[in-house]
Amino acid sequence: MTGLVDRYGRVHRDLRISVTDRCSLRCTYCMPEQGVPWLPRDTMLTTEEVVRLAGVAVSLGIEEIRLTGGEPLLRRDLVDVVAGLAALDPAPEISMTTNGVGLDKTAAALRDAGLTRVNVSIDTLRRERFLELAKRDRIRDTLAGIEAAAAAGLVPVKLNTVLMRGVNDDEAVDLLAFALEHDYQLRFIEQMPLDAQHAWDRSQMITGEEILERLRTAYELTPLPDEARGSAPAELFLVDGGPATVGVIASVTMPFCGTCDRVRLTADGMIRNCLFATGETDLRTPLRSGASDAELADLFRESIGAKLPGHGINEPGFLQPPRPMSRIGG
Ligand code: GTP
Ligand code: 5AD
Ligand code: SF4
Repeated sequence: MTGLVDRYGRVHRDLRISVTDRCSLRCTYCMPEQGVPWLPRDTMLTTEEVVRLAGVAVSLGIEEIRLTGGEPLLRRDLVDVVAGLAALDPAPEISMTTNGVGLDKTAAALRDAGLTRVNVSIDTLRRERFLELAKRDRIRDTLAGIEAAAAAGLVPVKLNTVLMRGVNDDEAVDLLAFALEHDYQLRFIEQMPLDAQHAWDRSQMITGEEILERLRTAYELTPLPDEARGSAPAELFLVDGGPATVGVIASVTMPFCGTCDRVRLTADGMIRNCLFATGETDLRTPLRSGASDAELADLFRESIGAKLPGHGINEPGFLQPPRPMSRIGG
């Protein structure tokens, strides 16, 4: 079976599966405090459906599966999803991006089911600010989740921080000090136009350059060679000569679409060939109408065949996709 190669020669090896659109937090750059209308339950893929579609993807060359949300830990049968994915042949590497709330209780079970590592979002170390930013008083849960992930061997634990001007950009150095102290790999992320409120404002975004400027007030940063980066969104820098590193994910000012190897499956069974795709390929309907694996594989190929070269954020006429981040999973 031929793999998932697009018109620009990009080979897709990474499938990001959103397992729920619900979330335990309300980060301002993602959704409003009152939440958003949730996907109707009957449109959400069951565990068996997720595993079947992932199996088709694996047969097409997918080697890594990232579980995302909303918040993936809100999916009650998450351990079963992981176990089902781990039983695929060939077995993909399975990781998860989470806000950490509840991870202290599930890290060991998820590891036992086949999860190998986690990335945890944390935008501040201050309780008051966390509440302001995420509208929930859960910083202790996130911190406990991070600790539990490391203790369970879900390593390397990576931390994701979205920096926003006048909100948390004064904490860049503190966050890095925290990560270095605990041996977590921190990555700073430029805010992208994917919030449900459509309130993204380029001037509020802290650019990759600005992130480096702030960090260089306290640390010496040396870029790792490009070859080491591969298809990863994060550009890595040795901190004070290494071995610790810090990452910068500059999706807006330094797009990495040319090396993109990612395709996404939403909780309601749509393939998205890009975070910023305006169209989607429906897999749920054919899946539920008895489509064969070969037919589903053709739909994956069709979607990848239509992938655009880049996200277009910096081009005139850019339109934010109708589906917000919480329904894509990052
Ligand atoms: P690792 O494989 O552990 O390095 O994960 P990752 O950085 O690819 O994924 P993660 O879920 O931790 O996402 C970190 C940030 O990168 C989030 O803001 C994502 O939305 C963003 N990101 C991940 N993949 C892509 C992508 O394909 N395109 C863009 N523009 N951003 C992405
Ligand atoms: N821009 C950049 N990153 C975002 N994330 C959520 N919303 C945005 C956005 N608008 C991050 C989260 C999490 C990952 C899935 O994406 O902080 O780490
Ligand atoms: Fe890939 Fe789209 Fe992300 Fe660019 S913006 S790296 S094409 S998913």
